[in-house]
Amino acid sequence: MFLHELKLFNFKNYAEANLRFSEQLNCFLGNNGSGKTNLLDAMHYLSFTKSAVNPADAQNVKLGESQFMIKGGFTLGGKAREVVCSFQVGQKKTIREDGVDYTKFSDHVGKYPVVLIAPQDIELIWDGSEVRRKFFDSFLSQIDHRYLEDLIVYTTHLKQRNSALKLFAERGRADLDLLESYNQKIVPAAKSIHARRREFLSDFVPVFIKHYRNFSNTGDEQMNIEYRSDLDDSEFEELLKKNLTRDLATQRTNAGIHRDEFLFLLNDNEVKRYGSQGQQKSFLIALKLAEFQAVAENKKFKPLLLLDDIFDKLDDRRIHKMLEFVAEGMFGQVFLTDARPDRCKEILKAVNLKAGLVNIENGKFTYPS
Ligand SMILES: Nc1ncnc2c1ncn2[C@@H]1O[C@H](COP(=O)(O)OP(=O)(O)OP(=O)(O)O)[C@@H](O)[C@H]1O
Ligand SMILES: [Mg+2]
Repeated sequence: MFLHELKLFNFKNYAEANLRFSEQLNCFLGNNGSGKTNLLDAMHYLSFTKSAVNPADAQNVKLGESQFMIKGGFTLGGKAREVVCSFQVGQKKTIREDGVDYTKFSDHVGKYPVVLIAPQDIELIWDGSEVRRKFFDSFLSQIDHRYLEDLIVYTTHLKQRNSALKLFAERGRADLDLLESYNQKIVPAAKSIHARRREFLSDFVPVFIKHYRNFSNTGDEQMNIEYRSDLDDSEFEELLKKNLTRDLATQRTNAGIHRDEFLFLLNDNEVKRYGSQGQQKSFLIALKLAEFQAVAENKKFKPLLLLDDIFDKLDDRRIHKMLEFVAEGMFGQVFLTDARPDRCKEILKAVNLKAGLVNIENGKFTYPS
């Protein structure tokens, strides 16, 4: 899969933009705030139907304007495809492929996969379990359509169940039949998600460990990802029954796959507490490389790789390693950003890598040779 052309209209800092890309490496160069990450985010929109940075569509409309449009010209399976994402404030967002609107966005997710490596990845290590669940959910959604559908059913009905619990407390009266109707929706979805998460992790972890060993040059530390769920040792129906009084008192659902943990471990301790900065960085890169491999194997083609600001975040040895991977053809089409054009050009020269360079200044593009 390749993205040949990107057109933007009133998206973030761009009034209008029109870019064409190389099928190998593309570098966006420009000062801080010039709009490099915004271009990667536009690609993320075309893939996931949403921003990787700001989940509120309205805030991605150029300030003072009322709508944005992102148009991507792709080649997929040897055919030219056009994907358009548009949003108008106060209206529903639309996603269109070759002129046809999707009725369900979930049908689009996974068709044009991307893997993003970005500064905010560190949140995966530092923040609470929700961020890690979201990472695996969005990753699994790209490769397993059923998983995404189950997740939508679970999330929607869990939200309704929690609202009902709040309402019962306000009214001083519980409608147990209504709760049971939500249970009947969330139980099968939760069981399927739980089974998929467990099965997926058992395949994913060895790949992740292989990439970690390959990417870090450190000794014999054992990195691992462990999955824990309320559903590991109990039937979900039983848990819901057992927790009924507590759910009513706390006005929320106290057990379920929305509480699942993906633990990032170094020698059985949390990477967050025990990992050095270098180990944490290598952990994140290995996680993303393993994601890239899993998506590529599942799709039988390579996803776009978006590398946001990696030169600032990695040391020289890791940067060279990454670019060696690019040079060896481990990835397909790659987009990277750097605020320091000279550094970027030097690194590319050092690994003898040719790239399509785009200079960005005040929302305008120039193409240095
Ligand atoms: N909705 C919006 N309307 C107009 N401008 C916006 C909007 N959202 C973000 N911006 C602008 O986009 C710019 C940030 O763009 P971006 O994050 O792509 O920069 P960058 O080139 O990646 O910078 P850095 O090198 O610091 O990462 C900021 O100047 C910000 O004000
Ligand atoms: Mg940026």
